[in-house]
Amino acid sequence: MTMSPLQWTLLGMAAAVALLYGLWVVIPVLHGLPWIPTGRERIRRALEMARVRPGEIVYDLGAGDGRVLVMAAREFGAQAVGIEASPLHCAVAWLRALFSGSLSRVRVRRGNFFRADLRDADVVFAYLTSRHVLRLQPQLERQLRPGTRVVTISFDFPDWQPAAFDKKDLIFLYRMPPDAGGLGTFLAKQDLPLSR
Ligand SMILES: C[S@@+](CC[C@H](N)C(=O)[O-])C[C@H]1O[C@@H](n2cnc3c(N)ncnc32)[C@H](O)[C@@H]1O
Repeated sequence: MTMSPLQWTLLGMAAAVALLYGLWVVIPVLHGLPWIPTGRERIRRALEMARVRPGEIVYDLGAGDGRVLVMAAREFGAQAVGIEASPLHCAVAWLRALFSGSLSRVRVRRGNFFRADLRDADVVFAYLTSRHVLRLQPQLERQLRPGTRVVTISFDFPDWQPAAFDKKDLIFLYRMPPDAGGLGTFLAKQDLPLSR
């Protein structure tokens, strides 16, 4: 069976789409973490909890398709910096920033956040796994200035006591340097009567 030029073109396009989709899925997984985007309302709630102010520098560690960066820049007036391992996701994040008109306040860096310099951060956002969070802990303790807020989705730092916790959306807020103790200590304190 011979194929017409049109059929070859369609086949080539289908192969290109399949390859791009494969890379889109595989590259994050190779870094030990699939791309699972955070929902818009959850991002907004996390940035509100962190009290992001205009001009502040907000990092998203593993920026995915850039949705956190664009919301931080557009709705909160932040300077948003995303660090993302997957070049395809970086390209999509950059396009998202471009088409949303927030490119002047969004930077997307392809790279490994474990090797990043985060010393200028005011807020660090992270939606990772418990394994990543544990590995990140010493880096954040070493690099972040006092008063920097760290906001995590779904996974907490077991050794750090949160400054706030959203039980419904599973969002943890920490203020550097965090008190020792973990979520259990924080929750136990919440149950104490206000006056004794
Ligand atoms: C769960 S997704 C979160 C995406 C985005 N932050 C959000 O909340 O919608 C995690 C992202 O981290 C990226 N990633 C995983 N390990 C990384 C690493 N060491 N350095 C940079 N990016 C990484 C993955 O490619 C993926 O896009």
